[in-house]
Amino acid sequence: MVAELSAQITAQIKQAAVMLKSAKSICVLTGAGVSAESGIPTFRDKQTGLWEKFRAEDLASPDAFARDPKLVWSWYQWRRQQVIDKKPNPAHLALAQWQELAAKSGLTFTLITQNVDDLHEQAGSCVHHLHGRLWQNRCNNCQKIVKQSPNPSNNAAQALSDELVNCNDCGGLLRPDIVWFGEALPEKEWQIAENAAADCDVFINIGTSSLVYPAAGLAQIARQHGAQVIEINPHPTPNTIVNVTIAAPAGRALPKLLKQISAL
Ligand code: OAD
Repeated sequence: MVAELSAQITAQIKQAAVMLKSAKSICVLTGAGVSAESGIPTFRDKQTGLWEKFRAEDLASPDAFARDPKLVWSWYQWRRQQVIDKKPNPAHLALAQWQELAAKSGLTFTLITQNVDDLHEQAGSCVHHLHGRLWQNRCNNCQKIVKQSPNPSNNAAQALSDELVNCNDCGGLLRPDIVWFGEALPEKEWQIAENAAADCDVFINIGTSSLVYPAAGLAQIARQHGAQVIEINPHPTPNTIVNVTIAAPAGRALPKLLKQISAL
């Protein structure tokens, strides 16, 4: 049996619901925590198995790929293997439902993610990826985009091989289409995120440690433009600009929050 949320968390959800009920424009930023209940480790979780002795920061960089492309490619193939069978959890589903309801009632609801998995899409959301996509590669030379199928029945053995892959057009090496440390965010996605943060009435940070900029700065942009800020995280960040904190796992909090908004 799933334990009831505490009285304190229930009160936090009610407070957030009142704030959201009157909002005409909502901007949501998700991080690794939103996929935690689907079984995907967050970024600050220690790596396991073969990769235990590596730090993500030392593998996710252009320098690391230039030094040892096979090592970096193998790590991403391993990460793909970790998420290949993962499914959206109640947090992804509630966000997709919320987005659909908002569209029907003429509200603006922009969903932005730092995650590279495709669980928001699987849940039915329209989402803007700030840090790229795990199931997409890019030629390191000519920048051509090449999709990689996440479907395990679609020749998964080949798809998840550790062998480096060359671009069909120019022969350059394919790399994951992911924003690595030291690289710029995709311009169009960032512009959408910045505008949505500046224009929203309520900004919601879900499952992010708010440590990695510029994404972490979106809540500040929203606040500077007069928005209220809500955080959903079982281990709230020491973020002083947050107006309401819901200190619960997103998969527990979001369905309740949505229900509470509809009940008002
Ligand atoms: P982190 O791993 O830094 O933080 C995950 C956050 O999720 C933590 O604050 C957890 O407390 C919280 N959390 C854990 N379980 C949760 C749950 N069930 N519900 C809600 N929250 C939960 O992940 P991000 O903030 O997403 O960048 O990391 C940001 C970026 O840092 C990543 O996108 C990645 C990394 O460097 C790139 O790869 C470019």
